[in-house]
Amino acid sequence: LFVDRRCHDGAMTEVWAHRGASGHAPENTLPAFELALEQGADGFELDVQLTRDDEVVVIHDETLERTTDGNGWVADHSLEDLKRLDASSGHEQYAGTRIPTLSEVFELVRDTGTVVNIELKNSRMAYKGLEERVLALVAEHDMAHRVVLSSFNHYSLRHLVGLGTELALGALYSEPLWKPWQYAGKLGATALHPPLAATRRKIVEKSREHGLAVHVWTVNEPEDIERMLALDVDALITNYPDVARSLVG
Ligand code: G3P
Ligand code: CA
Repeated sequence: LFVDRRCHDGAMTEVWAHRGASGHAPENTLPAFELALEQGADGFELDVQLTRDDEVVVIHDETLERTTDGNGWVADHSLEDLKRLDASSGHEQYAGTRIPTLSEVFELVRDTGTVVNIELKNSRMAYKGLEERVLALVAEHDMAHRVVLSSFNHYSLRHLVGLGTELALGALYSEPLWKPWQYAGKLGATALHPPLAATRRKIVEKSREHGLAVHVWTVNEPEDIERMLALDVDALITNYPDVARSLVG
């Protein structure tokens, strides 16, 4: 067990690299996560899906075309099939980079204090058993104290609560919600993951009153980073951890 389900001490806004340092390296790959660490990120966000043989892989889209040289649905491929693909997304210097498994990412951060925000990409796909597989991997790699699970699929978050998880849970949303702090609290979430455009001072203050952390996505422009720092959000999720680090200090 762990004490702080916010995963951080709240003293300072944390910098979480969105899909790794995806502004500089192929998103959701080990090089992007390594670069995020080099650039001083406190954590990173990544997206997970299930393969045909129920392995948890790190990739944003439900289909392969945009970020790999494969095609079709992730869910129709075995891990062995997916490991043959190039996931360098047009970054020539990263040619040959593979789609990582969640376990490989956990291995990468094993000796660091890095927070890993795992977004379950299960809004378009049903992915039966994804929640259970992720929980099992978190336990196996002893990562419970520094993961935040998030999803736009709030049924999935309810499912995680029903499984009795003690992990930090982030309610992701993309359109403004009415009193999101109340909504997230009822859901059993421990954090709000609001879009930048919907993040206001009142949301941060009310969330804090209700014991919820606020992790804002996706904050790339220096002026937006400064604005979120002024609101004292708990974490900002950015494609440019180098830029954010230089502003956060
Ligand atoms: O977790 C925030 C953000 O990653 C959600 O949007 O499409 O980049 O996964 P997307
Ligand atoms: Ca995401």
